[in-house]
Amino acid sequence: MTTIYLDNNATTQVAPEVLEAMLPYFHELYGNPSSMHSFGGQVGRRLREAREQVAGLIGASPDEIIFTSCGTESDNTSVRSALAANPGKRHLVTSRVEHPAIHALVAQLAKEGYRVTELPVDSQGRLNLEQYARSLTPDTAIVSLMWANNETGVIFPVEEAAALARSKGILFHTDAVQTVGKIPIDLRHSAIDMLSLSGHKLHAPKGVGALYVRRGTKFAPFLIGGHQEKGRRGGTENVPSIIGLGVACELAGRNLEAENTRVKSLRDKLENLLLEQVPNSQVNGDRVNRLPNTSNISFEFIEGEAILLLLNEFGICASSGSACTSGSLQPSHVLRAMGIPFTMAHGSIRFSLSIYNTEAEIDLVIENFPSIIAKLRALSPYWEVGDKVCATIEG
Ligand SMILES: Cc1ncc(COP(=O)(O)O)c(C=O)c1O
Repeated sequence: MTTIYLDNNATTQVAPEVLEAMLPYFHELYGNPSSMHSFGGQVGRRLREAREQVAGLIGASPDEIIFTSCGTESDNTSVRSALAANPGKRHLVTSRVEHPAIHALVAQLAKEGYRVTELPVDSQGRLNLEQYARSLTPDTAIVSLMWANNETGVIFPVEEAAALARSKGILFHTDAVQTVGKIPIDLRHSAIDMLSLSGHKLHAPKGVGALYVRRGTKFAPFLIGGHQEKGRRGGTENVPSIIGLGVACELAGRNLEAENTRVKSLRDKLENLLLEQVPNSQVNGDRVNRLPNTSNISFEFIEGEAILLLLNEFGICASSGSACTSGSLQPSHVLRAMGIPFTMAHGSIRFSLSIYNTEAEIDLVIENFPSIIAKLRALSPYWEVGDKVCATIEG
């Protein structure tokens, strides 16, 4: 059975070109990029090229890129750095729908005595910019808002939000882990001070990321050690992965158009046909301002996990927005923040596509999905198939 991989917001396949570029740096060109000898020096030069490739994708200068181990490290570093650089300020602003890399971090910071404002979103996962403006105070050290949501794909107006923060002298960080490589980003004309990205979301390997820090931004390193990354992040560089990240960024730049045309139209086909064929289903999140590859759909009165298990029998990989496997019967914090009714939130499935998906794969999902839902609804105590009478449960 072949795999139909529609879980690209969880992680992506390493592009063949990326793997090929990385391989020599494991066994032939294994020198330390900081070494004085030319064996290491050639690796250092290749690292510089990778830095240029990453910077090129987001309109940054190479010296504004710090390589890290992952998106989580980039997120933690930026927020902790802003707090360390502004010791007199004790407030930070974020949203209720951030990835745990920020969500759990700010919970920890609240325990450490910081005041945290987590902005709500509306039923479509959108931010209210006026409410955001009101949350900024002279005590605010940093705003951290995700550019695009990993569960729904909803895009926040981060450029406007950053400009507003700058007008009040507040640092602005964005978690762009799901955004980089999916929509164009140009930091030359932006007020964003820091931006996080992660390799494994754009066809580079897991365990490598980058943090953009605008030139002139006060910065306090998270990992203190050697002089690597100009003293901004100690530790010998993960050379093969960084080289892979560079190539992945270059490929992503070239594939941006395909991502926003071919991938988007496959996503739309999948979404529209599923909505048409499955009663009591809805898209979660703003369908206008959304990543081109992501679709989060709720199928009422069934469990997302049950859907995933049956999809798995067809080799189809997706994700669910409920968290029964982790022992909690709560739907995800994102869907809860959007106020999605309990019976809908529990049956939510996230499909996330990539340039490697084909129309034949999407057709196969559409062919099998309605019968999976019908099978599960026949077993659901809240769904009577015969006369389509739906019981309502509170929660
Ligand atoms: C929006 C967002 N931020 C941060 C992360 C964390 O990235 P990493 O897995 O590289 O630590 C993820 C990963 O799912 C994400 O989707």
